[in-house]
Amino acid sequence: MNGHVKSMHFQQFMELATIPFSSALLSFLLVMAVDSTRTAAASRNQQCGNSLQRTSNLTRLVHKESVDLIKTYKASQGEMSELFCKVSVNNIPDPNISGMEPSERIVSIYTHLQAFFPHLKRVYEQQTDLQLPTSQLLTQLNHVSGHSKNLAALVKIFYQSLFPNLPVPVPAGGPTTLPPPQNVFQQKVYGCVVLKTYKEFLSNVSQELKTLRSQVCRRRKQINTLLLRMT
Ligand SMILES: *[C@@H]1O[C@H](CO)[C@@H](O)[C@H](O)[C@H]1NC(C)=O
Ligand SMILES: *[C@@H]1O[C@H](CO)[C@@H](O)[C@H](O)[C@H]1NC(C)=O
Ligand SMILES: *[C@@H]1O[C@H](CO)[C@@H](O)[C@H](O)[C@H]1NC(C)=O
Repeated sequence: MNGHVKSMHFQQFMELATIPFSSALLSFLLVMAVDSTRTAAASRNQQCGNSLQRTSNLTRLVHKESVDLIKTYKASQGEMSELFCKVSVNNIPDPNISGMEPSERIVSIYTHLQAFFPHLKRVYEQQTDLQLPTSQLLTQLNHVSGHSKNLAALVKIFYQSLFPNLPVPVPAGGPTTLPPPQNVFQQKVYGCVVLKTYKEFLSNVSQELKTLRSQVCRRRKQINTLLLRMT
């Protein structure tokens, strides 16, 4: 769309050129105009890349933390902990990112992150009753939750900078369905499935951000190339 506006300006410029006009001055102005838009496009492109890189880096960190967290989790649940994670549990957010357009997929990442937060909190509360207060598991759960909130904030900023005219993403409507009171066995199963699904989701997010890099940050480069061809 940006390119469209730029080429309109260019046309008006060419119409101006039919007025008797120093052709040296005209080409000087033309070079100035194209040069400044090119610089602006390059800098926007770089901002897009940096913002995406920061988001990718944090996603990778939280994913790594979640892998370690699951190991600690299994180690601290006693016997049969491997089995806990294989049971299927209802009403946990799925790990799939949905949507066709890049904007929809970024919103899906954001709303999914938000949907996981109450579940991570519930797992923390349950494990507080099951573990010693000094447990490594509680510390790791805290880190993952904290970094995930930062990640959601970065995703939101990235989205707003890419799509300043679209509405700010809001967490999906309706209350999150948290499980009813659970016995200790159910809690152990629930916790493992939440953490495992969250880890899968983060792995999907990492992949998605790689795809987005070529879709959203390069698009601006094409405009750049177009302008170059016009000179
Ligand atoms: C992302 O991580 C890489 C490698 O760990 C690092 O070199 C780079 O500076 C980081 N980029 C940002 C924007 O945080
Ligand atoms: C997630 O996607 C996979 C394949 O991409 C599909 O088989 C699965 O049913 C999806 N799960 C949900 C909960 O949408
Ligand atoms: C996300 O992860 C799940 C489970 O690992 C998988 O079924 C699904 O196809 C993945 N991909 C996307 C794009 O959501």
